[in-house]
Amino acid sequence: LSTYQSTAKEILKINDFGGYTVPTKGLYPFQWNWDSAITALGWMYVDEKRAWKEIEMLIAGQWQNGMLPHIIFHQESDTYFPGPDVWGAGEKLHSTSISQPPIVASMMLEMAAIATDKQLLESKLKAMLPAIVDYHLWWYRDRDPQNTGLVVSYHPWESGMDNSPAWDDALAAVPQVDWAYQRRDLNHVDSDQRPHKSQYDRYLYLVDFFKKSNFDAQIIYQDCPYKVQDIGIIAMLYKATLDLLTLCQQFNIEHPGLEQLSTELKLTEQAIDQLWSDETQFYHSRNAVTHELCLDQTSAGFMTVYAGLCAPEKTQILTECAQKWANSSQYSLASTIPSSEKYEPQRYWRGPIWLHINWMIAQGFESSNQGFIAEKLQQDARALLEKSGFFEYFHADSGQGCGGDNFSWTAAIALHWLL
Ligand code: DGY
Repeated sequence: LSTYQSTAKEILKINDFGGYTVPTKGLYPFQWNWDSAITALGWMYVDEKRAWKEIEMLIAGQWQNGMLPHIIFHQESDTYFPGPDVWGAGEKLHSTSISQPPIVASMMLEMAAIATDKQLLESKLKAMLPAIVDYHLWWYRDRDPQNTGLVVSYHPWESGMDNSPAWDDALAAVPQVDWAYQRRDLNHVDSDQRPHKSQYDRYLYLVDFFKKSNFDAQIIYQDCPYKVQDIGIIAMLYKATLDLLTLCQQFNIEHPGLEQLSTELKLTEQAIDQLWSDETQFYHSRNAVTHELCLDQTSAGFMTVYAGLCAPEKTQILTECAQKWANSSQYSLASTIPSSEKYEPQRYWRGPIWLHINWMIAQGFESSNQGFIAEKLQQDARALLEKSGFFEYFHADSGQGCGGDNFSWTAAIALHWLL
C-alpha cells in the first residue's frame, strides 16, 4: 500500500509544471480543466497549499465572460496538436475556446472536507469561489440561453469523453476540415486506443468554426453544426452547482448570481426526464440540432445518479442495469455498455474503464443505498491499479493499461479513493 501511495505522489510531482499539473507528459503537456480539478484533490494528500494553487492556475485562464477553458496553454510544446496557434483563443493566457465537465466546485467541496489547514482553506475559498460562481453562470447563460434547464455542448472534447459512441451521429453532420495536419497523439499512444481520423477531421472543423465565429456566443449557439445536450455535463454541472451553493453558504460568500443558480437547479430538475428513454430505460444525451436522443448507452448516463438527479424508481432501474453492465466485462465499469456493437474495450471512450468515472458512479450508488455497486467498482479499480499501474484508462477485458502512463488523475483518484 505504501509503495502505491508514494508512486502516486511521485506522479503528481513529476507532472507538476510549476503550479499546474499536466495530465501526463508528452501526450497532454498543458493544463486541462477537469483533469486539474481532480488532480487538485490528489495534491491534498501531498501539500495543501499546492492543491489550492492548482485551481488558482485554472482560474488564471478564465475568460471575461466567466468561462474556464478546457485547456490552458501555459507554455509552448511541440508534442501536442492542436496547440494555441490552431485555436487562436484565450484572453489573459492562451487557451482553447470551449470548456470541459464543470466538476471543479465538487472537487473543492471534497477538498474542504479533508483540509487540515482550515485557515488556508477559508482564505482560498473566499478568494476563489466568486470566480467559480461566474463560471457556472457562464454555462447557464451562454449554453442555455432559452432556459431549457439543459445546457448544450459544442465539441466532443468539451464532454471530456471525446470519441464516445453517443456523439457519432451528431459528429457525422459536421463537415471535415479541408487542410492537412499532423496528429501528435499517435506518437505517444497506439492508434487502436485513440479516435479515428474521420473524427479528428471534424474535431478540427469545429475548432476552425469557433475561430471564424470570433467566439461569439450568439452566433455559435445559432449556427454550430454540433450541438449536444450532454447528459454527463448536465449532471456534473447540476451536482457542482449544488456543491458550490453549499460552499458559498458555509463560507459566507456573497455573489449577486447565487439566487439565479438556485433557479437553474430547479430548471434542470424539471427537464432531466426529457433525456430518459422508455425504450432503453436509460438516460441519454440529445442531439440539439435534430432533437433526437443519442440512444447509445454510455457510463455518462449514470452521472444522473451521482448528481442526485435520478428519482428513486429510476435509480432502481439504473442499479439493475449497472449490475448487469458491471458483470459483462472482465473489469467494471466499461464506458460503453459491452453488449453494444460499438463497444471496443481498448479504444478511449468506446469501452475502456476510467477510474475517476468509477469513483463518481460509486459515490452515486453509495448515497442511493446501493453500496454493493460502489464496492464492486472500487474493488475492480484496485485490481486494475495492481495489475497495470497508473494509466490514463484500462482495457475493460484484459485490464491492460491504455493511453498515457503516469497519469495525474489516476494517481489522484488512487490517493483519495483507493489507497
Ligand atoms: C485530446 O487531445 O485527446 C484531448 O482529449 C482533448 O481534450
